[in-house]
Amino acid sequence: MQKKTDYDTAIKTKYPEQIVIAVVKDKNGKANPVTIGWSMVTSGQPPMFAIALTPKRYSTAAIRTSRCFTVAYPSEEMGELALFFGTHSGRDTDKFAETGCKISPAEKIDSVILDDAVANFECILESELTTGDHIIFAGRVVACHINSEAKKRLYTVGPNRELGGVLKK
Ligand SMILES: Cc1cc2nc3c(=O)[nH]c(=O)nc-3n(C[C@H](O)[C@H](O)[C@H](O)COP(=O)(O)O)c2cc1C
Repeated sequence: MQKKTDYDTAIKTKYPEQIVIAVVKDKNGKANPVTIGWSMVTSGQPPMFAIALTPKRYSTAAIRTSRCFTVAYPSEEMGELALFFGTHSGRDTDKFAETGCKISPAEKIDSVILDDAVANFECILESELTTGDHIIFAGRVVACHINSEAKKRLYTVGPNRELGGVLKK
């Protein structure tokens, strides 16, 4: 049986929600990671991946300039990094330098991949679509990487940005 409710109550039932970390280089060549809850695979053939950003994110301007981005599935142990990347802006922070997050150059695009992630996808921007207060950026996957060790993915497990593996022990 279903009970009618408001949007704010209904949407709280969505957890766990996957987290990805996208990395875009800014116009000065600084690689800037951003934590994203709203992302999805949008095509299998060709493989495509989409991330949703608000217009005010530093990453939004950067992606329009660089036209490419990587998407990482962070591992459970990367919770603190994901929170840092999701609460600091590349406008005034070099997030990789501040955290010491381990990175390697991407192979086919001008960005970086995250060494401790479960997987990384290199994407070339194909299109964008404004949907309400976010913009969906869809990219074609041109190279992929997976961790040689078996690792669990990181999720948001509840409201207020509780991340699995960080706040839920
Ligand atoms: C768990 C989590 C999920 C987030 N999901 C999104 C998202 O889907 N879209 C978005 O624009 N910002 C999202 N954010 C907020 C951005 O990561 C945050 O504003 C970040 O500081 C922006 O960085 P930038 O200014 O360097 O681009 C999320 C933050 C966290 C912690």
